[in-house]
Amino acid sequence: MSLAGKQCIVSGGSRGIGLAIARLFAAEGAACTLVGRDRPRLDTAVKTLERGDDDTLQHDISCFDVGTVNGWEKLKASTKHQNCDILVNAAGISQNSFLFATKPSDLDALIATNLMGTVWGCKYFVPKMMKQKGGCIINVSSLLATHGGRGASVYAASKAGVVALTRSLAWEVGRFGIRANVLLPGYVKTDMTEGMDANGELSALIPMGRLGLDTEVAEAALFLATNSYAHNCVLNIDGGLSAT
Ligand SMILES: NC(=O)c1ccc[n+]([C@@H]2O[C@H](COP(=O)([O-])OP(=O)(O)OC[C@H]3O[C@@H](n4cnc5c(N)ncnc54)[C@H](OP(=O)(O)O)[C@@H]3O)[C@@H](O)[C@H]2O)c1
Repeated sequence: MSLAGKQCIVSGGSRGIGLAIARLFAAEGAACTLVGRDRPRLDTAVKTLERGDDDTLQHDISCFDVGTVNGWEKLKASTKHQNCDILVNAAGISQNSFLFATKPSDLDALIATNLMGTVWGCKYFVPKMMKQKGGCIINVSSLLATHGGRGASVYAASKAGVVALTRSLAWEVGRFGIRANVLLPGYVKTDMTEGMDANGELSALIPMGRLGLDTEVAEAALFLATNSYAHNCVLNIDGGLSAT
């Protein structure tokens, strides 16, 4: 098992891409802490993770809004999380409205969750990784970070910020044995894309002719988690959509 004994925190781990990553990492031996805002959903999600042989490493949940500093501070301070080998920042919300028609509070939430949620996760867990003399950060951005999207202006901006954050961190933390990488999924079948491909028009735009699966994104995350020279990877996983 390639992640045996590793401790992993996955924001957005209650469902979708984050949960798929946690499930694969757990199957590879990692102990995962799932972060989300909905406790019952987290409780259900954590039960789907494979349990390893090592009783000292347990899966866990932590219920808070990633856009708030408090939640990250508490998670960092908790005795269960003195170590963090892998931090996956997958929590995110989407936008489906033109900038001029979007409420300011919704724009704030996009930046707070997608960008600042990732900033806080990195800020609070990089010091632990420095103490451990190693670690791995996997941020989940989006193809829209590089391509933009109609009705997704601030979502795209928040995800471009995640790419820039990861690249800058790669400079800052590499010398401490910490690797920082970012995934740019195209369209993936999750709650976030529900109904978007109802008539197949979206699939028709994608060279591979279909949306991706959360498990396919998870496999890309596992590559980033296990390849010891993968650092500052900006990895498209989009069925070829970035080629169009
Ligand atoms: N699906 C796609 O096509 C696609 C494409 C490119 C990038 N992405 C990115 O991939 C990531 C995962 O997306 P997904 O498709 O798996 O979406 P999803 O199924 O809607 O899941 C979103 C996850 O983020 C969590 N979350 C949202 N806001 C949060 C907050 N403020 N605090 C804590 N947790 C929060 C949700 O937890 P709750 O239970 O609290 O709601 C849930 O676990 C996102 O960053 C998204 O932008 C997705």
